[in-house]
Amino acid sequence: MHKELVIVLDFGGQYNQLVARRVRECNVYCEIYSYKTDLAKIQEMRPKGIILTGGPNSCYEEGAPACDKALFKMGIPILGLCYGAQVMMHVLGGTVEKAPVREYGKTNVHVNPLSALFSDVPEDTVCWMSHFDYISKTAPGFDVCAHTSECPVAAAENPSEKLYAIQFHPEVLHTQYGTKMLSNFVYNVCGCSGDWRMDAYVEQQIEALRDKIGSGRVLCALSGGVDSSVAAVLLSKAIGSQLTCVFVDHGLLRKNEGDEVEAVFGPDGDYDLNFIRVNAQERFYEKLSGVEEPEAKRKIIGEEFIRVFEQEAKKIGKVDFLVQGTIYPDVVESGLGGESAVIKSHHNVGGLPDTVDFKEIIEPLRDLFKDEVRKVGLELGIPEYLVFRQPFPGPGLGIRIIGEINAEKVRIVQDADAIYREEIAKAGLDKAINQYFAALTNMRSVGVMGDERTYDYAVALRAVKTIDFMTAESAEIPFSVLQTVMTRIINEVRGVNRVLYDLTSKPPGTIEFE
Ligand code: XMP
Repeated sequence: MHKELVIVLDFGGQYNQLVARRVRECNVYCEIYSYKTDLAKIQEMRPKGIILTGGPNSCYEEGAPACDKALFKMGIPILGLCYGAQVMMHVLGGTVEKAPVREYGKTNVHVNPLSALFSDVPEDTVCWMSHFDYISKTAPGFDVCAHTSECPVAAAENPSEKLYAIQFHPEVLHTQYGTKMLSNFVYNVCGCSGDWRMDAYVEQQIEALRDKIGSGRVLCALSGGVDSSVAAVLLSKAIGSQLTCVFVDHGLLRKNEGDEVEAVFGPDGDYDLNFIRVNAQERFYEKLSGVEEPEAKRKIIGEEFIRVFEQEAKKIGKVDFLVQGTIYPDVVESGLGGESAVIKSHHNVGGLPDTVDFKEIIEPLRDLFKDEVRKVGLELGIPEYLVFRQPFPGPGLGIRIIGEINAEKVRIVQDADAIYREEIAKAGLDKAINQYFAALTNMRSVGVMGDERTYDYAVALRAVKTIDFMTAESAEIPFSVLQTVMTRIINEVRGVNRVLYDLTSKPPGTIEFE
């Protein structure tokens, strides 16, 4: 596999995953570990370089996250970012104190182009600052190699020891040449050659999966979402007919989605895999009948999904491996990657069936960030519309129909959503908006159509811009587009006489309605 590793030691900063992603964008494999990681363990991993992240603390305060001086004596190149830079200075004998002026946001910075970090970076550029402490005196052996009007040490270096400190955040896109700076560190300072490439990864992963699985049988729950699709195709390339994919259509998918998934992965599709589609709509509607409470609905959908999957698995008989679509952010979020082999038991719809008889779980995407999963998908020839799909929740339309679910309501929301998606794509907005969909409110109101009084449902349109889906803003869609969508929905979807646009950001709202 890839031989070069750069490790990120996490001091609790909000951008820890971003640092690792940017390094990987430079074609260097990177993993995140806690700042508490043992030096012996670090040495064992033989990293080509170490990056210390930002963090919310003040390094001079009692009990603040720190690191051993010996870390800087191992001969491994180290780059400290923000808090990481301050810790480096503090531990090595510099001074860090509260800054007279807090710097936050885009800031002009002057860099020394002779520094290995700033090679091919303009002398005057823009960086992203976010700090209340500053380095007032560098540690012995360090020279200042960047400053801003408020910050005398925006970067410092000790090239002979291969130690570098940057006060700002090169990992944030607002730092114009940030990726270049990280690339300079991993190539110019650490001497990496860049062996992390998705095409090679796919080939190596296929080999590794073949070795691991041998002649065993593998079962995969396929939802048609990006992660499970990529995992399924990767396994199919590796082991062909030893893999069986079970696709449960719970009747809460988007319009035509079940058929689309079957067209790609089913017997007439592009892949040679055992594909089982279970049409379980009735079963789900029955269980959901009369249930209004969102959490109860989610639980029923998750539970029923597992039961259906389990029944199919039993028909197949004994399997050796079960596939899970865990990706690297899940690993990091469930307890700092690599420290313990955390197996996330809840993925997408609801978790793993506990009565399926299998030996081991396979998580073929465990090392990858979402954008890397997409790259792997493209390498594997999965159609772009599947690879760049917007997220779709496991409980599906079940949480986009407020209140009780029935087949009639599903039809309404499917048709309205299909029109909305079509018009957004026609307007060329589909790439600019991160998630958009129609939901069915439980509200009915009086309207007039032709000369007739109507008493029908209101459909709500949602569209958000977001990076991490933890916070989101309502997207600004041109009024003319919204009007076209409204007219079409009211004309074409029976049972709807009102269309509303949701302006709520997250927080206080959530992206979904339930
Ligand atoms: P919320 O509504 O919490 O959604 O702001 C944030 C993101 O998560 C998706 N989402 C889910 N995905 N199972 C999933 O697989 C779920 O139960 C679920 N609930 C929300 C949602 O679509 C959005 O992208």
